[in-house]
Amino acid sequence: MKNNSNYPSTKVLIFLIQIVCLVVFLPTSHCSRSAVFFPMDANLIAQTCNQTPYPDLCVSTLQSDPRSAKADVKGLGIIMVDAVKAKAREADLLVEELVDKELGNVAASNCRFNYSDIFQLDIPQAVEAFPKGDYKSAELAMTNVVANADSCERGFSGGSPFKEESQAVHDVAYVAAAIAKVLRS
Ligand SMILES: *[C@@H]1O[C@H](CO)[C@@H](O)[C@H](O)[C@H]1NC(C)=O
Repeated sequence: MKNNSNYPSTKVLIFLIQIVCLVVFLPTSHCSRSAVFFPMDANLIAQTCNQTPYPDLCVSTLQSDPRSAKADVKGLGIIMVDAVKAKAREADLLVEELVDKELGNVAASNCRFNYSDIFQLDIPQAVEAFPKGDYKSAELAMTNVVANADSCERGFSGGSPFKEESQAVHDVAYVAAAIAKVLRS
């Protein structure tokens, strides 16, 4: 008799616990996992990003990479260099497209040189310098990315057909340079 009445109530209890768990954990599982941070990591990201020229871009870029949750400032710099690489790829794809489409477009072929420098020189320099703690060299490499993106864009009066992508490279490289600067000061 006692068993009979206990059995369903235990079941109900387990069911209720499951409901509570669902309600508590469902909202976080709806967010991307990278958006879930321990307070300390969020602080480190905010503190670091506040010392860069584009704090919002800095925070959103870092939060979109799950590695940021466990990274120190040096790690955040390395993650930002990867973001520079991704943005530069997007811009370079459009540069190549334009070069192929308009063979005599001098501005476009100049951009090709600039992006070649970004991929062959600047990014490898930063990728090597950050882990070694050579922040001066990392900062210089990222400043060179900014200069190359600007140089490419200047070839087009009124802006290139990939103006937004150039700007994205400029902004994220500027942030990466600022993170390197934070580390060397
Ligand atoms: C971008 O490329 C052009 C053409 O090669 C070059 O003159 C310019 O110096 C480059 N910019 C930078 C910052 O290297």
